[in-house]
Parts: sequence; C-alpha cells; structure tokens
Amino acid sequence: MRSTIRLAVIGLGHIGKIYTHLALAIEGIKPVAACDIFEKARLAYAGEFPQIPAYASVPELLAKADFDAALVLTSDPCHAEPFIQCLDAGKHVFVEKPVGNTIPEIQEMVTAINRHPRQVVASGHILRYYPVNTKIKQMAANGEFGDIFYLEGDYIHNLIEQGRPDRFNEALGRNWYLEDEKPMVGGGCHPFDVLRWIVNSPVVSVASMGNKIAFPAMKHEDCIVSIYQFASGAVAKVTALYAPVAPCTPFNNITVYGTKCTVWRDQICFDDKTWQSLQYEPYREKFGHGFEREILDFANAIRTGQPVRAPAKDCAQSEIATLIATEALRSNNKLDIPQVV
Ligand SMILES: NC(=O)c1ccc[n+]([C@@H]2O[C@H](COP(=O)([O-])OP(=O)(O)OC[C@H]3O[C@@H](n4cnc5c(N)ncnc54)[C@H](O)[C@@H]3O)[C@@H](O)[C@H]2O)c1
Repeated sequence: MRSTIRLAVIGLGHIGKIYTHLALAIEGIKPVAACDIFEKARLAYAGEFPQIPAYASVPELLAKADFDAALVLTSDPCHAEPFIQCLDAGKHVFVEKPVGNTIPEIQEMVTAINRHPRQVVASGHILRYYPVNTKIKQMAANGEFGDIFYLEGDYIHNLIEQGRPDRFNEALGRNWYLEDEKPMVGGGCHPFDVLRWIVNSPVVSVASMGNKIAFPAMKHEDCIVSIYQFASGAVAKVTALYAPVAPCTPFNNITVYGTKCTVWRDQICFDDKTWQSLQYEPYREKFGHGFEREILDFANAIRTGQPVRAPAKDCAQSEIATLIATEALRSNNKLDIPQVV
C-alpha cells in the first residue's frame, strides 16, 4: 500500500462535502476523485473543490479515476449499487449509515462483503466513536455492569428542514428524506447500533408503536418507539422522533442498567441513591461529531489490516433489526429478526 490512501467521494451532498474537507485536512489520505448522479450537486462541489474531478456515475468514476478506497455517502436508498460496484472493483469501502434501506439490498451488500474478505468495509456508525460510548463499551466488555438487563437510547432530532423544496433531487426525481427515510432506520440505527454493540448479544425480536402526527409530510412514521429483545434476555427501548419541539437529547439518552451499576448519559450510579460523573477520555480532535475518528480508523485498517470499530457487516445487523422494527409498526406484531451471516 502506498503511503497516501487515495479516496473517491461518492455522493456530494452535505455529508460528501464534510468528508472531503476532513480528508483534505488529514495527513496520509487524499480525496482524488468524486462522483454524483445529480448535476446540481456536482456543480456545487466543483465550486468548493475545483481540484477534484467529479464524475456523473460510478462506472465512469471507476473507468477514469485511480483510487484505493471509496466513501459511499449517497442518499439512504442509494448506498447498495455504488457500494457493490466499488467492492467488486477491488476498492476498500466506507459506507454511511444506514448500510442499506431495505432488507434485500442489505443481503446483497453482505454477500458482496463476503465475496471480498480482504477489503476493508466500514460503516458510518459514528456513535461507536463517541468518547462516552467508548467508555461504556469498555465497561461492558470488562464485566463492570454485571449482567446487563435493560438499555435505552433515543434519536430525538428536529429534521423538519429536510422537507424543504430545495432538498428535491432531480436526478432521483424526489426528496428522498420525505419519501424513503425510515426514522427508526436512518436515525434510530444510531442509538440501537451502539446499544447492540454494548450488550454484545444477538438481537432476536422487536415490537413497535408510532404515529405521523408531528411531521405528516414524511411517508414513514416520524415518531416510532421500538422494544428489542436480545438472546441474553436483555431488553432495549429505542425512540426516534424527527419533529420534536426540543433540541437533540444529550448523549442520545444512552442508558445501560446492569446488576452492578447503571450509566445514564455521562453519569454512573452504584447504589439506589446517587449519580456521579462518569470518568472518560474526552474528545480532542479538531472536527466534531466523530467523523475524524471514523475516517482515521478506516485508513488505519487499510494500512495495517487491523479491524475497524464499525465493520459494515456487523452494522448491517443493526440496520436489519431497525428495518424489522419499522415492519413491526406496520403489522402491529412482535417480529423475529433474521441474523446476518
Ligand atoms: N453519520 C451521520 O451522523 C450522518 C449525518 C447525516 C447524514 N448521514 C448519511 O449520509 C448520507 C448522505 O447524506 P446527505 O445529507 O449528504 O444526503 P444528500 O441527499 O444531501 O446527498 C447525497 C447525494 O448522493 C447522490 N447520489 C444518489 N445516488 C447516487 C449514486 N448512485 N451515485 C452517485 N451519487 C449518488 C445524490 O444525488 C445526492 O447529491 C445518507 O446516507 C445519510 O443518512 C450520516
């Protein structure tokens, strides 16, 4: 592997630009090519990054650009095709969450991962990189909770602006945020994935309730509450709200109840009376939101062969669970969750 990892950025919207700025600032990685099917997005990107050629399709990108790894930062329903095309072309791939937006496409993506075991395939499950969650995961792995029996997490985020007319994507023929975004998948997958990572036990079934009162322009319910059961017996409740009249909840309200202690947000309790501050290593990187740690981890795995913290195949299991949770809301039933193999 050459010393600088050459990246192609696929999907040049809000997140594509964030990752490009990040990749330009980090030593040892370099964005050398870009791609978007939407001309308006390519033109806006070219205005900001004139030195990076932007192609109109992934096949064109693969034919004309020389790169080592792809960042698939396309709209939620558009991850599978570029992901599989890049893996089959021998590239390492980082794919934003959710890994996919339907169960059949995730199954195809997992099959592609299995075809290419030597390539690094990571997913943007950024909450695994947050300092408090890193600490909670270490505590769980060390057995400091005793037996974990109940967990909670929320994705409570006002995303009404995603419905703005200027978010219409002419290449897709729709505003995917309104038509395709499934809040328990697109948002709820963040806290659910981190809870599943902490509890480290297969997720086996789920039941859901919800409504479309606060954000009726969305096709899927903007308010959904799901209760997941793990093989260990632990139970987790996850809420996704896309139109709360409130700021985002601190630390995604991540809460872990064990038989020895409880952690709630950045507080810990060892008895039935007092919360204390949890001691953890704070975030020191230049860029907020954990993106920097994700990309450094991806680059490190490419260079060293060490595993990434958020392998796409493992994260695919979280997305399958949240997709089944969305189905459970429709069918009003508790549903079993298929296992990723
Ligand atoms: N990890 C996080 O915290 C976080 C935060 C926000 C968004 N995201 C995720 O990042 C992804 C991008 O979000 P965004 O807000 O930038 O979306 P966006 O709609 O602004 O941009 C996505 C771009 O992908 C392009 N695209 C779609 N299909 C394509 C294809 N086959 N080839 C090339 N380009 C294609 C679209 O034309 C669009 O310009 C989404 O999956 C979203 O859920 C993650």
